[in-house]
Amino acid sequence: MSITKRNIIATAALPYANGPIHLGHLVEYLQADFWTRFQKMRGHDCRYVCADDTHGTPIMVKARELGIRPEELIERSFQEHSKDFADFGIHFDIYSSTNSEENRQLAEEFYIRMRDQGHTEVRKIQQLYCEHDKMFLPDRFVKGTCPTCGAADQYGDSCDKCGATYSPAELKGPYCSICRNTPVPKGSDHVFFKLNDFRDFLQEWMPAHTSREVSSKLLEWFKDDLRAWDISRDEPYFGFEIPGFKGKYFYVWLDAPIGYIASTWQLCKKQKDDFDSIWRQSNSKAGNEIYHFIGKDIIYFHCLFWPAMLKAADFRLPNQVFVHGFLTVNGEKMSKSKGTFISARTYLNHLDPMYLRYYYACKLTSSLNDVDLNVEDFVGRVNSDLIGKITNLGSRGAQMLSKRIDGRLGKLDKEGELLVARAQARSESIAAHFEARDFAKALTEIRELADEANKYFDDKAPWNLIKEDVPGTRAVLTATLNIFRILAIYLKPVLPEYADKVASLLGESSYSWADAQKILQESSIGDYQHLAVRVELEKFQRVIEDSKPSEAAAPKATTDVAAKSATKSATKSAATKGAPPATETPGEIEFDDFAKVDLRIAKILEAEEIKEADKLLRLKVDLGELGQRQIIAGIKSAYQAKDLVGRLTVVVANLKPRKMKFGMSEGMVLAAGPGGKDLFILSPDSGAQPGQKVK
Ligand code: 2FM
Ligand code: ZN
Repeated sequence: MSITKRNIIATAALPYANGPIHLGHLVEYLQADFWTRFQKMRGHDCRYVCADDTHGTPIMVKARELGIRPEELIERSFQEHSKDFADFGIHFDIYSSTNSEENRQLAEEFYIRMRDQGHTEVRKIQQLYCEHDKMFLPDRFVKGTCPTCGAADQYGDSCDKCGATYSPAELKGPYCSICRNTPVPKGSDHVFFKLNDFRDFLQEWMPAHTSREVSSKLLEWFKDDLRAWDISRDEPYFGFEIPGFKGKYFYVWLDAPIGYIASTWQLCKKQKDDFDSIWRQSNSKAGNEIYHFIGKDIIYFHCLFWPAMLKAADFRLPNQVFVHGFLTVNGEKMSKSKGTFISARTYLNHLDPMYLRYYYACKLTSSLNDVDLNVEDFVGRVNSDLIGKITNLGSRGAQMLSKRIDGRLGKLDKEGELLVARAQARSESIAAHFEARDFAKALTEIRELADEANKYFDDKAPWNLIKEDVPGTRAVLTATLNIFRILAIYLKPVLPEYADKVASLLGESSYSWADAQKILQESSIGDYQHLAVRVELEKFQRVIEDSKPSEAAAPKATTDVAAKSATKSATKSAATKGAPPATETPGEIEFDDFAKVDLRIAKILEAEEIKEADKLLRLKVDLGELGQRQIIAGIKSAYQAKDLVGRLTVVVANLKPRKMKFGMSEGMVLAAGPGGKDLFILSPDSGAQPGQKVK
């Protein structure tokens, strides 16, 4: 069957550059990898494009916390992400970064076209501003009490407890989640993209370019006018400054999808290929195809904002947006405390990436349904299907042919011909499943073929037959190995390395899809090398153990690190809010609770005795990027003020400032010991720098 060559660009959503790749991300990167590898095997020109999503407040704040520049943070993430993807066998034709010159140029071009055609407007908006951190706070950086149900410590946009959504200004007792100070409302000019200008276009475009499941959800948004979208952010912001609008930056979600185009542009430059004919509407060549793989959480961005932006700036629109569900583990949302929030690296420390590739392929469909990774099912499918059904066919066939005969394939007999022809006849049906991203169905067909071949092998019992009929045994093994070869070809989009090993065992080069139609006869095979080994449940349990918050990070119940006297009441209010009455031994806390405490290295710049108080010293400390603070510390009984100047120590930096009799205390110095002369502040090793986070 001859296939017309297609030119395809496939993208996967760009991961944020402030966290590791986890198994949830891999649902997407793997399925797009299966799909693009399949297209390449079919002979199409298919390019898999991705990049790190590098801009925005969380990345800027995380870099500050680490005491590094955002550029350094995104470089680290880039290295880690690239390695994780490579080790999972995910092959991008280009993996770039949104913080590139190409992306800046394109983002400006998009904006200027949107603006010049009257699709933007500038409006003044009110936002919460943190005077301490000197920045406007995005919704997720404001916390407070839910205005609907009264639950404490909820984010500024929605309540985890009751699900209510609101604006940060509606929160009761709002505080900045970085420094815990109370933010103030402040006005600022912002640029809005008038999405409603594209209402009719989107209403028509969407149903034709997403699944019915997705578009029926989306059409609900069209009951009312589409609200204009705020595409700007105030400085400080890590991103691209908006031309002609000093101090304002493009919101990360404006330049992130443009990163798909910028990465393609970089790839075209490298390959000396024509970029305009792929992405520019006026130059686009009929026949070029563009597909986006995304998760269901970012439909809004890809099916509303993005097509409207492309349309406004005269760029090509995607042929389809493919949307998948989330990953659950053992039927539940991934959870840090249960150890099911598993990073790619932790998985790789214990398990072969091939297992996960195989397992996800068994579970993935084109629907929006969540994909469940059930640990026992994972072990069962790998061991009984991939090893028991598929690999054993090859290993038994190849080892018998090499060890008991002479390692040469013979000719197929009539029965073998029929069996092989049946496997070959499935080629287009399996291909159609891959094309439709119904990987589960493709894998079911492949397993059915393996079942048939195993039955044939067991019925023929070559281990007995060989005693009386060597030519007959050779024919059986030839049929068995031909089927095994076809299975490896069909599995190649999912298990490329495995398929390459099979090709080399059989003395062939890397397979294309069409190679399944050939028959291998009267050739020699190589020595059998292990293709896959069984997986042990305990290894997965180790992965889960290693993914739980580490012991070292959790507070030890017996550690006697406590702030004394003046700071004691402050500790109490922060640490015991809503807790049961204090007991001798503090109970366990969740890692997330511990993570809220911002411990920092502080340099004591000044220290003075507070004469009127028995136990108090007034300190001025340097917290690096967090600036200088005054802390009133109850350590006078153990330290003379002059001995402290110049020392490094550890303080809680995000304790809500307290107005005390002798002035404001803006943090807490940690100290150990029973009190009196036996009170010891902490001394970091030399080399520690003021402001560094203590973890
Ligand atoms: O949701 C996310 O993880 C985003 N970083 C995805 C961006 S996809 C694209 F638009 F760049
Ligand atoms: Zn703040």
